[in-house]
Amino acid sequence: MAGGHQGQGWTSRWGFLLATVGSAVGLGSIWKFPYMVGANGGGAFVFVYLLALAVIVFPVLLAEFVIGRAGGKSAVGSLQDVAARHGGTRAWGLLGLWSIVAGILILSFYSVIGGWTIAYIPLAAQGAFAGQTGEQVAGIFNALLADPNRLILFHAIFMTLTAVTVALGITNGLERAVTILMPLLFLIMIGLVVFAAATTGLGKAAAFMFTPDFSKITPKIVLDAIGLGFFSISVGMGVMITYAAYSGREINLTEIAVATIAGDTFVSFLAGFAIFPLVFAYNLDPAGGPGLMFVTLPVAFAQMEWGTVVGAAFFILLLVSALASALSLLELIVSYAVERNVNRVVAALGGGLFCFVLGLATVYSFNEWSTWFPLAGVPGMEAKTAFDLIDFLTSNIMLTVGGVLIAVFVGWVMPSGAVAETLGVRNGASVGLLNFLLRIVCPLALAAVLWAGLFLTGGGGGG
Ligand code: PHE
Repeated sequence: MAGGHQGQGWTSRWGFLLATVGSAVGLGSIWKFPYMVGANGGGAFVFVYLLALAVIVFPVLLAEFVIGRAGGKSAVGSLQDVAARHGGTRAWGLLGLWSIVAGILILSFYSVIGGWTIAYIPLAAQGAFAGQTGEQVAGIFNALLADPNRLILFHAIFMTLTAVTVALGITNGLERAVTILMPLLFLIMIGLVVFAAATTGLGKAAAFMFTPDFSKITPKIVLDAIGLGFFSISVGMGVMITYAAYSGREINLTEIAVATIAGDTFVSFLAGFAIFPLVFAYNLDPAGGPGLMFVTLPVAFAQMEWGTVVGAAFFILLLVSALASALSLLELIVSYAVERNVNRVVAALGGGLFCFVLGLATVYSFNEWSTWFPLAGVPGMEAKTAFDLIDFLTSNIMLTVGGVLIAVFVGWVMPSGAVAETLGVRNGASVGLLNFLLRIVCPLALAAVLWAGLFLTGGGGGG
């Protein structure tokens, strides 16, 4: 009874792939990727991001898959068992706990942003954006942020949807819905890209995203890019350990890893090409921060025929993809609780409630606490609100530290024969390469970037 997930195994390769893609594709790709690219100056950041995906995120994703399949339990249980099996200490379970704490913190703010997508569905459907200028659309967004009660309401709705779904254990039902809705989201996004491509901003957008100015690369930008890579692919925190634990042995993990990263990156670039042409065509600020998507896409909906329908459909689909990601976060927490004999319903509702309360810090960061900078005395953190700090702490620190340790665990604690066998890889060269990446490249690169990004304040924007 792998981790006590009654009836929750992924029945097929498709189901598992949809689950991992469902976890990966979400607000990270569509909301966060564009604003981080914008805040960090464009092409150079995109370049580092892609490099980080290939050299760091991909091996760590494979490592999580290996741990999950070999362990067959929650993040904590899998790490403990696999460590013990290979002569390591069961204290590796602490790494699982660390990732669960990261998951709790991420879910707390993820749900607030998920709430924004809920708020936008009726706005779009009622034509609130129709005929509005860029400035007026920004005004609608700012009014939402300024009102903590509305934010709390939508945050509560989002968290309830997530917690109830996980409590009922209907993850598979949701995955089935995602099978249909995800391709629809792709289609709408392609439509948005076509619309945006017809504006005057296309050339500037392409230049912005694809002309790397390497002089802009600072340690902080590299840390941001790696943090976003982990966040966007849902790696560095055991979600993929948990999911791989449910996967059938016949499923080829390497294929799933490649497809997950490719699918997520495809969506990120679609988002970039839907948003940046509008930014330049309407003279918006690419470094506008977390509101970027919420003030650019409505401008498109305002201009297009059928904009109310397309807009409402877009936000519904974005909500579904955000829910699939939030589910994976809560499942990470719940699978551990269930393993400790907590009732699934209690764990899901209790976990959801706890994250909801923590999320209030994010809610107030956009209004009442917007000028409260908890680490005002720390260089590089002077202007970060509570939300900025939670985001920075989780993506840039907790996920990267988790990533280093996961790489070290699979690279150094598990014998490479066992890793190769778990992955079903027989080719010596690919095993050697994976080993080299996990043993040497990931730990050294991540440790160096963490150190430099935290202590050499190279200025730089964003985040
Ligand atoms: N990858 C998700 C997204 O891009 C967010 C997420 C992060 C989900 C970490 C699970 C774990 O929206």
